[in-house]
Amino acid sequence: MSYGYPYVRGRRLRATAALRQMVQETHLHPAQLIAPLFVIEGQGAIEPIADMPGYHRYTLDRVGEEVRSLWVLGIRSVLLFAKVPDHKKDNTGTEALNPDGLLSRAVQAVKAAVPEMCVMTDVALDPYSSYGHDGIVQDGQIVNDETCAILAQMSVVHARAGADLVAPSDMMDGRIAAIREALEGEGHAHTGILAYSAKYASGFYGPFRSALDSAPGFGDKKTYQMDPANRQEAVREALQDEAEGADIVMVKPGMPYLDIVRDVADAVQVPVAVYQVSGEYSMLQLAVKHGLMTEETAIMEPLLAFRRAGAQLVATYYAAEAARLLNA
Ligand code: PBG
Repeated sequence: MSYGYPYVRGRRLRATAALRQMVQETHLHPAQLIAPLFVIEGQGAIEPIADMPGYHRYTLDRVGEEVRSLWVLGIRSVLLFAKVPDHKKDNTGTEALNPDGLLSRAVQAVKAAVPEMCVMTDVALDPYSSYGHDGIVQDGQIVNDETCAILAQMSVVHARAGADLVAPSDMMDGRIAAIREALEGEGHAHTGILAYSAKYASGFYGPFRSALDSAPGFGDKKTYQMDPANRQEAVREALQDEAEGADIVMVKPGMPYLDIVRDVADAVQVPVAVYQVSGEYSMLQLAVKHGLMTEETAIMEPLLAFRRAGAQLVATYYAAEAARLLNA
């Protein structure tokens, strides 16, 4: 015999805070948050980023204090991005391979401050590219295999500097295999790869591109980043990256792509990450500023939704604030 209403009442288990906590299906922990960190040359500066209200770029002498405070909050990983001065940009990412480049020194600065912190590094050419593209440009095309070779070398540079995981964000074909092979060949068998596997050609990256001055100089990124209309393709990309040796696969952006997070989480056997990108962050910040929702809602509800959709890890500009709320 089966009972429906009035015997079955969903509200019974929602009646008290204790019951709601008991049946809560999804949890968020500070160790599941990845904090992106923008680094710049210079001294003594924590620069506000105009298009990302409340977020900053750090000179390397100021990175240590930030990383220590993240660690104390329970955050266990940072994802490093370098803002490269224009005069160091070219078409082949020369500066990206400089062993004393800003990103390598940033890895060392983080490790010097908190040796246990997991350091992830962005691997892509756009911050180093005079064209603002993620790969080498030839005759107006972003060439794939030549770019993979540079990304593999760049990954080795980051591994030598002490990165725990390299994070290719470029969407070239075959770059995970190329990077894995180069790392093995250079004795970095334990350096991992967080692959931006399903990265969409999204309009939500604008504030990040202004933060790093890395907007494409011509065209767009649609010949390498994915079409926002596609779903099955995301699963194919993630499975391919897993097969090539990715340790973690990532979906990006976040909130408009929760279905993709779920599909990928159901398909792969490695942990899934999601990136709540700059446009999402800035929209939420503006909503809070205009009194449309509380800061706590703006921060916690989307982050919990990422976990519910199947993400183990969430890269978010709210990492520190979220950890603070979780610890309160
Ligand atoms: C570039 C890169 C981008 C982001 C991370 N790595 C921008 C892009 O692809 O143009 C976006 C992050 C964000 O918007 O927060 N390799």
